[in-house]
Amino acid sequence: MEAVAKISQLKEQLKVRVEVGGEPVLLTYLDGEVYAMSDRCPHLRASLHKGTFQDGLVTCPKHNAVIDVKNGNIIEKAHFGPIKMPTKKAKIYQVEVKGDEIFVTL
Ligand code: FES
Repeated sequence: MEAVAKISQLKEQLKVRVEVGGEPVLLTYLDGEVYAMSDRCPHLRASLHKGTFQDGLVTCPKHNAVIDVKNGNIIEKAHFGPIKMPTKKAKIYQVEVKGDEIFVTL
C-alpha cells in the first residue's frame, strides 16, 4: 500500500484530491480525523474537490448536493432551483494514518 498524501498537507488545505488505483478520491480533515470519499459526485460525477467544504459537509459545485464526509450521507439532494433530483449516498473509503502518511483502501 502506498501513501496517498501527508497529514501536514491535508491539515493546511483541509481537502485534497488524490488518485488511488486510478480512482479520484477526496480526502478531508475534520476535528483531527481524516475522511476519504469518492471525488465523483454520486449525482452526475462532478469533481467534489471543486466544491466547498465546511462544517464537515461538502457541497457539489454542479447542482449543490450536500454530503456528509463522515458517512457519505446526503444532507441535501442535488437541486436545480426548487427541483430536487435523486442523489445516491456517496462512496466512502477506509483511511489509515501512520505518522505523517495517509493510506486509503478502495
Ligand atoms: S453532479 Fe453533483 S449535484 Fe449534480
